Amino acid sequence: MSEPLRLGIAGLGTVGAGLLRILSANDAGLALRSGRPIVVRAVSARDRKKDRGVDLSAYEWFDDACAMAEAADIDVVVELIGGEDGVAKDLVGAALTSGKHVVTANKALLAHHGPALAALAEEHDVALNFEAAVAGGIPIVKTMRESLVGNRITRVYGILNGTCNYILTCMEREGRAFEDVLKDAQEAGYAEADPTFDVGGHDTAHKLALLTTLAFGTETAFDAIYLEGIESIAPEDLEAADDLGYRIKLLGVAMQTDSGIEQRVHPTMVPKHSAIAEVDGVSNCVAVDGDFVGDVMLIGMGAGAGPTASSVVADIIDIAQGNTMPPFAQPASALRPYARARMRGHEGGYYIRLSVYDRPGAFAAIASRMAEQEISLESIVQRRPRAALPGIGADGQAGAPMPVVMITHTTTEAAIRRALEAIENDGNVDQKPQMIRIENL
Ligand SMILES: NC(=O)c1ccc[n+]([C@@H]2O[C@H](COP(=O)([O-])OP(=O)(O)OC[C@H]3O[C@@H](n4cnc5c(N)ncnc54)[C@H](OP(=O)(O)O)[C@@H]3O)[C@@H](O)[C@H]2O)c1
Repeated sequence: MSEPLRLGIAGLGTVGAGLLRILSANDAGLALRSGRPIVVRAVSARDRKKDRGVDLSAYEWFDDACAMAEAADIDVVVELIGGEDGVAKDLVGAALTSGKHVVTANKALLAHHGPALAALAEEHDVALNFEAAVAGGIPIVKTMRESLVGNRITRVYGILNGTCNYILTCMEREGRAFEDVLKDAQEAGYAEADPTFDVGGHDTAHKLALLTTLAFGTETAFDAIYLEGIESIAPEDLEAADDLGYRIKLLGVAMQTDSGIEQRVHPTMVPKHSAIAEVDGVSNCVAVDGDFVGDVMLIGMGAGAGPTASSVVADIIDIAQGNTMPPFAQPASALRPYARARMRGHEGGYYIRLSVYDRPGAFAAIASRMAEQEISLESIVQRRPRAALPGIGADGQAGAPMPVVMITHTTTEAAIRRALEAIENDGNVDQKPQMIRIENL
């Protein structure tokens, strides 16, 4: 058997400790598959005394992760600290510059600095592998970089954040409000104490930025992503969606259009019969549309110690076997500038929920605002108010607002926004209209 592959692991939290557990549980099998032993030489984290449930006594400890990156007896630096800048960026930069391969799960770092770090890796002829950075345990990076390489990809999309999917699934099943379910999710450990990053769609956007670069060979363009979180989704939207044959998911979507690439993260209505509608709870999924392969979908766990560390191990084994390739499938210097399609040009169907005052002329005014923008309606339904609030709707009081739900035929985002603005200004609705995009699947 060849020389061992020597690892330095920086970050011993959820993923780092999970990685140590897999390496120790499966060491013989991993050595066989990679043709050489995989050994951990050194580790680094903030607190040396913390009990991590794994034995660290055989490894050299570094207080300074960057010093570990430069140690002579390490072949691969595994960065599992996190964060788009700071120590993670310094560590990865130092490791690549000193000719060491890097494996990372850090989507934030790569969404912001991916192409620059890829260029550095190529310059030093080392790998920069990041399977775990996109959808945790789902092997989508390798699938796009290698298995689908014969295709021109037209769209990549997915459920990329387990916390959001868990919250939406609970809201739908239990008819409960967002804040209520979020609180329970935090208590159960499915959501962070500060959930903004997840529920606001930022985490999904980091992963989408990487998928876009892999799919379209463009530079990463995190700041160009249109972003909406799930905070505004109400139980009545999930109920109405169900009645109309849809489910609501937070999707990240990147697609090629005539005017450039659309990158968007937003709550999305997906047909109930579609495979993605079935992806519930903390599960993730990623779907790729290729011109020859057709549609490919991978479903699995997008986070957690085991699934995420499983992807980290796969990246390490690739390096052990000598399988290195450009991080984004093509040389960093060949990545094209990102050509952004404006969100206002997005075309699709829309779900609209209005709270309309029950008075003569209100419906006619709404219909005419839609007609002015040449928006045609597939359906319009007046719904029962979900809960009777004092003096509102359910008591049948004249003039009290009633929920009205519309599904449009394909139109543009610009037309919808103009119509909704006019409807709001007319004063026939008592709250901001709800608008959810329908994805054509
Ligand atoms: N958790 C998941 O399910 C998951 C899924 C996919 C991707 N990821 C990504 O994996 C990475 C790690 O996530 P995680 O959940 O494992 O994070 P975590 O549990 O918060 O662990 C972070 C680790 O980094 C260490 N650390 C922090 N600052 C450091 C420094 N200056 N020098 C050395 N070590 C330092 C911490 O040390 P102490 O323990 O001593 O505080 C801790 O061990 C992130 O990029 C994350 O986005 C995570």
